[in-house]
Amino acid sequence: MTPGELEGARALLEGARRVVALTGAGISAESGVPTFRGEDGLWKSFRPEDLATPEAFRRDPLLVWEWYGWRREKVGACTPNAGHLALARRALGGGMTLVTQNVDGLHETAARAVAGAADPEAALPLELHGALFRNRCTRCAALSEGRGPVDASCLETLPRCPSCGALLRPDVVWFGEMLDAKVLQASFGAAAAADVCLVVGTSSLVYPAASIPLATLERGGTVVEVNPHETPLSSRARAVLRGPAAQVLPALLG
Ligand code: OAD
Repeated sequence: MTPGELEGARALLEGARRVVALTGAGISAESGVPTFRGEDGLWKSFRPEDLATPEAFRRDPLLVWEWYGWRREKVGACTPNAGHLALARRALGGGMTLVTQNVDGLHETAARAVAGAADPEAALPLELHGALFRNRCTRCAALSEGRGPVDASCLETLPRCPSCGALLRPDVVWFGEMLDAKVLQASFGAAAAADVCLVVGTSSLVYPAASIPLATLERGGTVVEVNPHETPLSSRARAVLRGPAAQVLPALLG
């Protein structure tokens, strides 16, 4: 990334009335949260069809809960990095909607840290793929917080619904499942109203999330991409900043 490229991208963002920021696993990489498709990505060592589908959960809830318990432990030890904090500051200032594919909750932690005693609402992200630290009942769909350790030693010890006693599942979107319609509509609405879509740390391979920047392009807006590697979106971006999010975002938005 050259100083000229950074200045060009800064000018696009400063000139924008509305911005939508779409983030993926890469923004949390420097916080220690593993990505999915990189060299050390989760899908290199684990098969999504064994762990992240409704069929896998029906077949073997112990295995699926064991994996999510392990991820909760790992992600629970991570904190937001300078990239999350820069985005939260900019969103709190107004004119930016945050949309994330991440389930790690780090945007929300950053929003609360930056807001202090003020209302963090404007910097809370639309979570396209759900939340790792939330449970949903498989029978009554009640939502509950899911932060403690998971005992996946037998069916009886798995997390149970506080209202109806049925088995709980993590409130994340698995392969083959629909995304929440309201979250999806709000995300596409924000993208279709934005002058700039800032796309950070996503491989742009998973749909419908990967279509969100296209809604900004269709209304005549521009895309700014922050990613150390090329993606299928790169050729359509007006500015591409090749670097890690925790370094690039503070320089871009500060
Ligand atoms: P991926 O793992 O597919 O892609 C991560 C992207 O982040 C890659 O393009 C990397 O080049 C980039 N990256 C790595 N380190 C970075 C850094 N320090 N700063 C900026 N970028 C960096 O993750 P996603 O695109 O988020 O879905 O994956 C999309 C969805 O696929 C996930 O939400 C998940 C997964 O299956 C579900 O679980 C439903």
